[in-house]
Amino acid sequence: MSSRKEPDSKKVPKKTRFSRRGFLAGMGITSGALTTGVLTPEAEAQSAGVAGPGEVPITLQINGKARSLSVEPRTTLLDAMRHRLDLTAAKRVCDRGTCGACTIIVDGKVMYSCTVLAIDAQGRKIETLEGISEGRRPHPVSTAFVNNDAQQCGYCTPGFVVASKNFLDRHPNPTEEDVMKGLGGNLCRCGTYMGVRKAVLEAATQMRGGRNA
Ligand code: FES
Ligand code: FES
Repeated sequence: MSSRKEPDSKKVPKKTRFSRRGFLAGMGITSGALTTGVLTPEAEAQSAGVAGPGEVPITLQINGKARSLSVEPRTTLLDAMRHRLDLTAAKRVCDRGTCGACTIIVDGKVMYSCTVLAIDAQGRKIETLEGISEGRRPHPVSTAFVNNDAQQCGYCTPGFVVASKNFLDRHPNPTEEDVMKGLGGNLCRCGTYMGVRKAVLEAATQMRGGRNA
């Protein structure tokens, strides 16, 4: 007569303390990333310690104010300002750093905002055309552009005004040749260069308190 052999309790493996779920949780991988066994781009980026590709919160210092917004890391400063912050003076024309229509001032220097990522502009002092007026009065450069008919379609004009203001802050008493060289990074397809030069020279006089050099 055979009797059922009882399992040898010494040979029964102890229940492991690790479950598959616990192991994956310990690896910092979310269940949503595992539906196919392949990491989603978000989970991959998260595990690599990089921002994105989804939107991330950022804060920009623009025209003296802290502005908080969320953008994908690939978003340019130009697009962030225009589409998220309603700052539309800077124009998107070439979108590749050649025309100057998107010119802004960053830490005191002119910059093409289409060539800077918004996420990289955090902590920097950003000025746009919207921020350079004097209270409710337009900046003397803006007034001089109107006085000298220095625009036609106007697409290049905000960039020119910002670049001119920054140029005059550094060169208060320029010659016409200085103006030509100083604004060499801005293009006008309508050909308003003569008016722009006259406007900048007039603004220079105004900014010196109306005194001639
Ligand atoms: S739009 Fe940025 S340089 Fe042309
Ligand atoms: S006024 Fe048209 S591009 Fe300059």
